[in-house]
Amino acid sequence: MAAPLASEDYRVQSMPDVSPPWWNLGHTSWFFAKNVLEPHAGYRFENPGLEYALNSYYETHGARLERHRRGLVSRPTTDEVLAFRSDVDERMQVLLGGEVGGRLAFLVETGLQHEQQHQELMVTEIKHILGTNPPALRRAYSEPQMLEAAGPQALEWLACDGGVRTIGAKEEEWAWDNERPRHRVFCEPFEMASRLVTVGEFAEFVDAGGYRDPLLWLANGWAWVQEDRVRAPLYWEQRDGASVTAWTLGGLRRLDPCEPVAHVSFYEADAYANWRARELGDGSRLPSEREWEVAALEHGFTPAAGNFLEDAALHPRPARAGATLQQAAGDLWEWTTSHYEAYPGYRPFDGALMEYNGKFMDNQRVLRGGSCATPRDHVRPSYRNFWPASTQFQFTGLRLARSR
Ligand code: AVJ
Ligand code: FE
Repeated sequence: MAAPLASEDYRVQSMPDVSPPWWNLGHTSWFFAKNVLEPHAGYRFENPGLEYALNSYYETHGARLERHRRGLVSRPTTDEVLAFRSDVDERMQVLLGGEVGGRLAFLVETGLQHEQQHQELMVTEIKHILGTNPPALRRAYSEPQMLEAAGPQALEWLACDGGVRTIGAKEEEWAWDNERPRHRVFCEPFEMASRLVTVGEFAEFVDAGGYRDPLLWLANGWAWVQEDRVRAPLYWEQRDGASVTAWTLGGLRRLDPCEPVAHVSFYEADAYANWRARELGDGSRLPSEREWEVAALEHGFTPAAGNFLEDAALHPRPARAGATLQQAAGDLWEWTTSHYEAYPGYRPFDGALMEYNGKFMDNQRVLRGGSCATPRDHVRPSYRNFWPASTQFQFTGLRLARSR
């Protein structure tokens, strides 16, 4: 994944939330070294600088380089990081040649799932890093892929029975601690949109003055729009009527008005739903995470047919014809109204991994479904992603719901 980068690209931190590529490459190996090789293969770090630089947020593992300083250090060098990565890979291969079960198998699986999360993070961060170069100096990451031009597709409302339903990861499958335990939830009857909100639809909201109408926004969202002078989704550069030009991993491109709008924050998604409900009087709103999961279980969640990292488009696809639940697996993470919090009976992972998810259950919203930057086999109907409400740089979009 790093192959298209120039050595200079490895060191840039284009904003505090974006880690430079050297860091993602090193941190994922650090995770194996710390959680697998130290306890199970007698590994000791020879270079304390690597340990200090590559610990993300674990208090258990001691002092570390602050996240917003990852772009300010010239050490460890990228070569040192790549050598560390090879060393860890070799030691892992030796370890995996022996007996692997129980706790060790769980830790190896968790390390692989963690690396998948960082594959997505690295792609979205590379998009931001390359896009931050001035237009005259900008280079694409990949060849732009042609999107299927299916034309406008009506938004259909898919009925979902309410009632008491069971959500959460099944006992027998590997899952993050935050997807457990399975538990019952109640939903009033609702309807879910068959597809994501499109660029063309979102452009109407922009043209109607959506970003200038405080009555559409949450108070914190309105403050964010003012302070950061937000006028459009991230990466939108030129507007000419319905035609939008935006920065993508394939370079600067004209977006298809029928493709789903990407790089919107929760605040923008919520304001759009409020605007549409006011315009059409159709009760449009964002779904809760339980509604999202119930709809996915009822109407189908099919990663095999979705647009994921392996498909290499690195861009969301327009919906096809049909009143089915489209784009739920892959394309874009979908904002839900749900605040990220523990399910009843939540038990964090054991040991140092107790810090993995639980301590972030504060001031973030849940997103569902996976994106065009997510590895295909990484997601499930129960998978819970989470970001602060103002986050735009991830592959985020929105699907509408309404009460019946
Ligand atoms: C689930 C994507 C919000 O980026 O902090 C990576 C994933 N956790 N390493 C994050 C994660 C630990 C997490 N998100
Ligand atoms: Fe991490």
